[in-house]
Amino acid sequence: MIRIPPPSAVRSSEITPEGLYRNRRRFLAEMGIGAVGLLTAGYTQAKDVPASADGLPLSIAKKSERAGGETPTPFDTVSTYNNYYEFGTNKDDPAQNAGTLKTRPWTVAISGECEAPGMLDLDALLKPHAIEERIYRHRCVEAWSIVVPWAGVPLADVLKRFKPTSKAKYVAFQTIYDKAQMPQAKWSGIELPYVEGLRIDEAMHPLAFLSVGMYGKTMPNQNGAPLRLTIPWKYGFKSIKSIVGIRFVEAMPPTTWNKLQASEYGFFSNVNPEVQHPRWSQKSERRLGELFKRPTLMFNGYPEVASLYSGMDLRKFY
Ligand code: MTE
Repeated sequence: MIRIPPPSAVRSSEITPEGLYRNRRRFLAEMGIGAVGLLTAGYTQAKDVPASADGLPLSIAKKSERAGGETPTPFDTVSTYNNYYEFGTNKDDPAQNAGTLKTRPWTVAISGECEAPGMLDLDALLKPHAIEERIYRHRCVEAWSIVVPWAGVPLADVLKRFKPTSKAKYVAFQTIYDKAQMPQAKWSGIELPYVEGLRIDEAMHPLAFLSVGMYGKTMPNQNGAPLRLTIPWKYGFKSIKSIVGIRFVEAMPPTTWNKLQASEYGFFSNVNPEVQHPRWSQKSERRLGELFKRPTLMFNGYPEVASLYSGMDLRKFY
């Protein structure tokens, strides 16, 4: 057993939580990254990292509105109606329970088919990039939706730094899984750690975003602090929270909901009003806070991604 000293003995900034440590060791072992990967990462840890970064103002370099001029859903709604099964399966559970997740220090393991794998401190991961705000629609597979001003960086800009090789056909993502910090996880009913994946051209699309905040501030834990995917043309479950591993792979990687029920949750999971979920229609959705349903738009209203799927039968590749 690896024991964590009591907080009084060590400054909180020096502690890597046990589960985090073990989870990363396992992830690295699975990914085949050893000490060499760690030593060759070549980035230094950013300084002045706050012990808890939740709710701090972010300095935003650029803003873009990509939700048809719609007003963002109120922050209080977006931060209290969540899916984050590691912290409970009711919509209000994550806001109540996710405070136990320590989001600093935070390391992301980059591995697989790339020339520059390594373990990166979050702040080193972000340092070369300017933080942007993007107002996106976000459509959950359960037929509710929200409009959110996310803050983050284009996913492609981050991924390109690790120089994926020609064998990198997909990108696999993994969430932290630490039973000590996530006591509700044992009742989640899903296999953890939560895993997701994108085809490499999807991941490199300019709309694909790695979010570190929302509403101009750092991300609340329940929304996936300290960093999560935001893929606005796909159902919400593709937007994996609290990422600790990014792996470039040759074969289509397993994804959490697909493993649980493949007939209901495909790998692609593009928002598509014409392909119904086996148990409900996807033709319409309810914007949280609104009384009446509205029609669901193909690719959630982001037609610029259509060329990623030309020639594909989207009923088969749902
Ligand atoms: N990521 C993890 N690790 N665990 C989860 O349970 N839920 C997904 C996705 N990412 C989930 C996750 C689902 S089903 C949705 S709809 C979105 O997160 C919800 O994001 P939000 O709570 O910020 O609206």
